[in-house]
Amino acid sequence: MSLIKFEYADALKFVTENEIRDLAAEVKKAGVMLERGTGEGNDFLGWYKLPKKRRKAEIAKVLSAAKEIRRTSEVLVVIGIGGSYLGARAAIEALTDPFYNIRALTGKKRANTAVFFAGNSISPEYLLALEEIVGKRDFSVNVISKSGTTTEPAVTFRFFKELLEKKYGKEGAAKRIYATTDRARGALKTMADREGYKTFVIPDDVGGRFSVLTPVGLLPMAVAGIDINAVLEGASEAYDEFANNELAGNACNLYAAARTALYRKGKEVEILVNYEPCLHFVSEWWKQLYGESEGKDGKGIFPASCDFTTDLHSMGQYIQDGKRILFETVLNVEKPRRDVVIGTDAENLDGLNYLAGKGMDYVNKQAAAGTAMAHVDGGVPNLKITMETLDAKNFGALVYFFERACGVSGYMLGVNPFNQPGVEAYKKNMFRLLGKPGY
Ligand code: PA5
Repeated sequence: MSLIKFEYADALKFVTENEIRDLAAEVKKAGVMLERGTGEGNDFLGWYKLPKKRRKAEIAKVLSAAKEIRRTSEVLVVIGIGGSYLGARAAIEALTDPFYNIRALTGKKRANTAVFFAGNSISPEYLLALEEIVGKRDFSVNVISKSGTTTEPAVTFRFFKELLEKKYGKEGAAKRIYATTDRARGALKTMADREGYKTFVIPDDVGGRFSVLTPVGLLPMAVAGIDINAVLEGASEAYDEFANNELAGNACNLYAAARTALYRKGKEVEILVNYEPCLHFVSEWWKQLYGESEGKDGKGIFPASCDFTTDLHSMGQYIQDGKRILFETVLNVEKPRRDVVIGTDAENLDGLNYLAGKGMDYVNKQAAAGTAMAHVDGGVPNLKITMETLDAKNFGALVYFFERACGVSGYMLGVNPFNQPGVEAYKKNMFRLLGKPGY
């Protein structure tokens, strides 16, 4: 049974079945470029077969580090930005529970390790607030940076390294620092070697935004108690199902084709929509994956996201009635992990007895169906990606589904989906303003 399903019936008022099917040859061409490594950016295709790679020793090392962190630390601070944190955060928020950190900190001592993310901004306010949360608690740090030189995580690491050293001494601190970085290059690797930190490698041929299934994502996930073997199993099943170059019957290729067809019809903004707050960071991860991969050479779908029904009360008006450049991709979870049955009230003052006995999820699903109808009527095509439940295996499958569709879409767009030259522009200005030597 497919872990990920794709439907595009609610886009067919805007693009015809034939217009999508006619993209079969382009999809095939893009798929072959990925498979054979003949396209631009082919030195960054390590993610493509990653789910099929035998990585027993690496996974064992991740699990053993996670066990040690869970044993010794009430808090893990994960320091990283962009592809070096979004995937782990997406997984942890999607697969634990919305109040995981509060439970970890207030529940039975050390039953779980709270995982906080830092180094994804340059805000002193955020750092100081996190320092207060860590307080007297035992903590460890997982600093993640492929280049090992990115300013945001580097400055943040300096702050937490000092805190660790004050608390545990230099040697004790070094035992609590886990560095995930390049095999050989960068300041972080040099520091890790010199100070004796445990290190995890981000493969040379896996770019940041495609790195969630490497130790970048796996170590924080494992610390949060997520079954990383199940995540990898899901990705592996998705590879088996989607890593072929057919259009018919391949949900991943159909998604790439449908969004490309809509883009070519002037639908330039894709909103990834969810109806589960815990999917918020899946959308943040997805936005980086697609934004950095496709937004170049004056081209590309603008990836946006909404959390419904929350954002129907803020963005709903624009989506229904604003500029008609939008399409939505709804991330649908068929069955919630838990449900709440709406009670009966003898007085019925709130008039809600018509819902008594119904599950909240039923109401949520009717909201989704009603919204899709309204938005399609208003001129917003709807695509739909469905997982049966939100579990580790399906999460892994979803990651691979989106990564592969991104590679195919990027090549269909005619860009190199695996570089990000535009990210450097702000850094040059910032370094010059800060007086960094050489700028
Ligand atoms: O996708 C990418 O390559 C980027 O978003 C990086 O992940 C981000 O800039 C962080 O880079 P680094 O891991 O080198 O610190």
